[in-house]
Amino acid sequence: MISDLWYKNAVIYCLSVETFMDSNGDGVGDFEGLSRRLDYLAGLGVNAIWLMPFQVSPGKDDGYDVADYYNIDPRYGTLGDFVDFTHGCKQRGIRVLIDLVVNHTSDQHPWFQSARSDPNSPYRDWYLWSKKKPANADEGMIFPGVQESTWTYDEKAGQYYFHRFYEFQPDLNTANPHVQAEILKIMGFWIQLGVCGFRMDAVPFVIAEKGADIKKPKEQFEMLRTFREFLQWRKGDSIILGEANILPKDNIKYFGDDGDRIQMMFNFPVNQSLFYALASGDTEPMVAALEQTREKPHTAQFGMFLRNHDELDLGRLSEDQRQAVFAAFGPEKHMQLYDRGIRRRLAPMLGGDQRRLELAYSLMFSLPGTPVIRYGDEIGMGDDLDLPERNCARTPMQWSDEPQGGFTTSDKPVLPVISKGPFGFEHINVAEQRRDPESLLNWMERLIRMRKEAPEIGWGDYTVLDPVKPGVLAIRYDWRNNSVLIVHNLKPEPVEIHLDVGCGEHGNLLIDIADSESSEADGKGRHRLLLEAHAYRWFRVGGLDYLLRRTEL
Ligand code: NOJ
Repeated sequence: MISDLWYKNAVIYCLSVETFMDSNGDGVGDFEGLSRRLDYLAGLGVNAIWLMPFQVSPGKDDGYDVADYYNIDPRYGTLGDFVDFTHGCKQRGIRVLIDLVVNHTSDQHPWFQSARSDPNSPYRDWYLWSKKKPANADEGMIFPGVQESTWTYDEKAGQYYFHRFYEFQPDLNTANPHVQAEILKIMGFWIQLGVCGFRMDAVPFVIAEKGADIKKPKEQFEMLRTFREFLQWRKGDSIILGEANILPKDNIKYFGDDGDRIQMMFNFPVNQSLFYALASGDTEPMVAALEQTREKPHTAQFGMFLRNHDELDLGRLSEDQRQAVFAAFGPEKHMQLYDRGIRRRLAPMLGGDQRRLELAYSLMFSLPGTPVIRYGDEIGMGDDLDLPERNCARTPMQWSDEPQGGFTTSDKPVLPVISKGPFGFEHINVAEQRRDPESLLNWMERLIRMRKEAPEIGWGDYTVLDPVKPGVLAIRYDWRNNSVLIVHNLKPEPVEIHLDVGCGEHGNLLIDIADSESSEADGKGRHRLLLEAHAYRWFRVGGLDYLLRRTEL
């Protein structure tokens, strides 16, 4: 059944428990608060939640520095609350993915504390040590400008330890079979508590060879197969969604030739060129990125996204393209980060213009993959550039115009709620938008329904139609005798196009899925479409009786 591969046609909603909903008034979001908001998420139509790290952690990298993999941060509740939450999700048909951060631990993790204190500790080899400072210690930093090195001297150990990320995140020696066994144990634990898979943090680094003498680290791809196999044995529908900002030529190595490694990966090349397309109206680099990432095993899937909790990384664009995106969306230095990206949320980047926001989400939802949105996207939340680094885009969810946006009754929220300017909670909040049929929230609900009812996008083959006018992207998806056609005008001016849908007579009738309009082809099989500035149109090709033609196998 196609629904067994649920991730091919899902809509994933990413959130941080800490900033979603506080139930006990201590200023910190918690699982009980989140559970109370599940009907909201079910109503929105998302069918999977990705939870950012919530395990015990000193919180120096927003939980990506785990100090105990088998417990949750007590500020968020108890393991009992967690199981209540996964149960509540199950009842509503929502699957739960959680972050799996096993490239590194916190330096406060008992494994690291033991490893540094005693050369004979069983955990010594769980980390990577060097007596001398390795020659490449000043290379490969992930957070340039904030992180100084990748090897830091530890007084207690009397040696240098390796850390790809911040110095309080020592890398695990993932080649060590004991570490690998522990990773499986961690996955098994959370699977047992009701999760359906993992967003695996920093996959290329997890599988890279590590050590002071390694010049050109090779990837240990078999590790991915081991993880995947284990998951399938424990729970057949569980998946790994990899965070892997890699070159398209390596995609298949991550998915596996036969689709026997990770099921999903975020599509970073398309993400970056999509922002370039939004900035310039030039869709060519995005079409090229789609082409480069077209090949994948049948069971694999890309996660499509606009903004996530990190900076918008533009590192793979050409210098000119990157400058175009900076100029359009993050012209000031304090909007940029790590010499490669922009740290703002999408809504402020697009000037809060709902038409452009709709265009951006419609475009992302119509690309070949599974859309991943972030809490607050559905109401167009903004950012607080006074907060350091990536925290600016991690402020609490804005539920209403009550104090602290209804996130907490405490006057000391864990991060400040946005309260100034056009993106303040008094203007941008769920309660207000729920009442307005034209709001972004209600529009997003309709978009989600539309996307879920077009499984052609998740499952089918796509064709970028040609020729269309500059700034217009027309994609047709075909799957099991059904087709959808989605057209976007990225330019700020209206445009008229004459389109041959490219599938014979079947293509003579287009029914607009969102609107009551339809289009019939002229004698030459071409549709004349008038697209307003920043318009998006979703069509079902050949009429609406697709449900009759569709087979569920
Ligand atoms: C990637 C995560 O998305 C980011 O937020 C984090 O800082 C690093 N990995 C380190 O875990």
